[in-house]
Amino acid sequence: MTVILDGKTLSEKILDNIKQKVSNLNSKPGLAVILAGNNPASEVYVRNKEKQAQNAGFNSSVYKLPENVTKEELLNLINKLNDDEKTDGILLQLPLPKHLAAYDFLDKIDPKKDVDGFHPINAGKLFLNEKPYAIPCTPKGIVRLLDEYKIQIEGKNVVIAGRSNIVGKPLSALLLNRSATVTIVHSKTKNLPEITKKADILISATGKKNMITKDMIKKGAAVIDVGIIRDENNKLRGDVDFNGVKDIAGFITPVPGGVGPMTIAMLMENTLELHLLNKG
Ligand code: GUN
Repeated sequence: MTVILDGKTLSEKILDNIKQKVSNLNSKPGLAVILAGNNPASEVYVRNKEKQAQNAGFNSSVYKLPENVTKEELLNLINKLNDDEKTDGILLQLPLPKHLAAYDFLDKIDPKKDVDGFHPINAGKLFLNEKPYAIPCTPKGIVRLLDEYKIQIEGKNVVIAGRSNIVGKPLSALLLNRSATVTIVHSKTKNLPEITKKADILISATGKKNMITKDMIKKGAAVIDVGIIRDENNKLRGDVDFNGVKDIAGFITPVPGGVGPMTIAMLMENTLELHLLNKG
């Protein structure tokens, strides 16, 4: 029997726990989300983050900037939030409008308010295994889900498909720090199935529908799907051919209800942790 890794239920448990902790604090954690431009997917994600932050009892603010926002305007907002006592976590939603480069801004966020863990100082600390102020939410959520289901990481072969700065690279560091043997594969990798078939844990974060099919899976493997794509019927789908893979895998995440809700729960956890770091 294949075990479905239920990120939705686990995320609800984590969020309830955060809400409980916040209700016992004298001050509220503050999360500021910056949304520049009008990417429809980003608008949905940001609305969801705002809703969950409010539900957890945080001060939540969303700063919407137009598609043609200038570099200077965005930097001014980041500086203002860096200096704002009520703001513990600053999240700059990606992707930015095309004329702006993410790392012109991510490295201006105070590392102690860098709720995504994307600042080069936090990325560096993660790679050095030296306590970053925050760990990127999706990688952190994936590891939490594996731990919840007692899926062993140490000594296991982990294959990650995708080398993004948001998921693939930080996840590789996090799993290496847990003593996994980590391989990252990407669009230029040769003989993909040969590599993925060796994976005890296979994590796909490519955004390509049906990227992972049953012939690429080792029997009993844990398969984690980070993809979120809308198909031709506007249904949410992942990278993994779920129906084909599920009978071979030992564990598999659904889309939706797997990694997505874990990412949001970790964002709230990071906000609370930064609040305690800055004010505790
Ligand atoms: N865009 C897609 N995922 C993320 C994320 O985790 N953080 C931010 N800031 N932007 C994203």
